[in-house]
Amino acid sequence: MTEAKRQAAEKAIEYVEDGMIVGVGTGSTVAYFIDALGRIGDRIKGAVSSSEQSTQRLRALGIEVLDLNSTGPLSLYVDGADECDPHKRLIKGGGAALTREKIIAEASEKFVCIVDPAKQVDVLGRFPLPVEVIPMARSLVARELLAITRAQPVWRQDAEGRGVVTDNGNAILDVHGLAITDPVALEQAINQIPGVVSVGLFARRPADVVIVGGEPPRVL
Ligand code: A5P
Repeated sequence: MTEAKRQAAEKAIEYVEDGMIVGVGTGSTVAYFIDALGRIGDRIKGAVSSSEQSTQRLRALGIEVLDLNSTGPLSLYVDGADECDPHKRLIKGGGAALTREKIIAEASEKFVCIVDPAKQVDVLGRFPLPVEVIPMARSLVARELLAITRAQPVWRQDAEGRGVVTDNGNAILDVHGLAITDPVALEQAINQIPGVVSVGLFARRPADVVIVGGEPPRVL
């Protein structure tokens, strides 16, 4: 799928216009996009980044990383996804950057999502749904998620068995075993739980364009 990720990322460069400030997501697909952006770095004004990981990669290529508070609305946001349904609704957050990704998506006029074909599903939920939570609310939120979804939330751990800490200092719960038939309602319901920072369901604000890597890439 590596080649498909690269193909989708290269196609997304066509959406970048001279003088733009580009919103940049996180993950292995976006890494290809950042590399491609590096080749035209002198034509853009800079980027707004959704994670420390992407910030480092952007800066290493000489692209200025700007604070969203100083840029105003963005014309373009490019990011990957863990799952994408036929309505361009997404599950994101496999890389734990969902909150900043959601903020930038909301601030952007056009959200271009770049995926490999394995990310396409009819119904969201096979990929565990990430929820970023304030650390002291972790157990409370886990109980409420179980009550709402009847599916099991799991505290995300790193390779050493320690709880993953997001760039915002929070924990991640992954809800396993869902079949999300009404993503907008579920996003709303999870957002209501005290202690939830954000949920990796992008249904209220889906992608505007989805590019599926292939030869040639498909633009949906
Ligand atoms: C990061 O938190 C995620 O939302 C990524 O966009 C998503 O996990 C896709 O990552 P890959 O491009 O690495 O598959």
